[in-house]
Amino acid sequence: MSKIRFNLNGKPVEASYEPGMHFLEVLREELGVVSAKNGCAPEGSCGCCLVMIDGHPALPCLRKPEQMEGRDVVTVEGLSEELRGSIGDAFVLEGGVQCGFCIPGIVIRAASLIEQRRTADRDAVAKALDGHVCRCTGYGRIIDAIQTAGEAHANGGRLPRNEPRRHHFFGEEFGLSRIRRSRSQMAARARITALATPCLVWTASRRRLARRRSSRTYRCRGCCTARWYSPSIRARES
Ligand code: FES
Ligand code: FES
Repeated sequence: MSKIRFNLNGKPVEASYEPGMHFLEVLREELGVVSAKNGCAPEGSCGCCLVMIDGHPALPCLRKPEQMEGRDVVTVEGLSEELRGSIGDAFVLEGGVQCGFCIPGIVIRAASLIEQRRTADRDAVAKALDGHVCRCTGYGRIIDAIQTAGEAHANGGRLPRNEPRRHHFFGEEFGLSRIRRSRSQMAARARITALATPCLVWTASRRRLARRRSSRTYRCRGCCTARWYSPSIRARES
């Protein structure tokens, strides 16, 4: 067992690690910081484990523990109450969360964008989210929430409005509606929606393939015919 010392959320800590461990394991298993999620470690492709290292967003699943000696690490728990409150209120208002697994990493990304005052630029927010995977909310509402959080932070922590930016329900973006329909109409709609819904089982290698294509879209050849879009493409469409 070896040891490292570094600052975690402003306090000096010491942790032990075994050879071959990555820094995310040290945070979660040795120090009990479970806000940083393990979605794909050590691939570094989902963004769920994002933390601040020396003031910059970075992926602990790609760092070796020995590289972290003397560094400053900030997780969601280490953000200021005011900033965390603005981001939380904005995600609730805009409907930017469902299961929440991806959210700690996205909160760190949002905090970094807010500190750099880049949340007014929707394209910049979408681009910054390209390294994050959310499989339930859809990126449009997350981008809304980050922009609203930026406005709330500039407004002393008060939300700039009481209403979300978009009022439709989730399925409505894919052609569902709240109008009462017959059973056969509902079945036809469900078939269309099933085809329009992005595949939920695409893998990191499929995503890398999508990145290499100039269109930044990927048509699933496995379980369905759906296309997966990168967040910046989605944002332009919404
Ligand atoms: S667990 Fe680190 S990027 Fe997925
Ligand atoms: S809210 Fe479930 S993965 Fe993003």
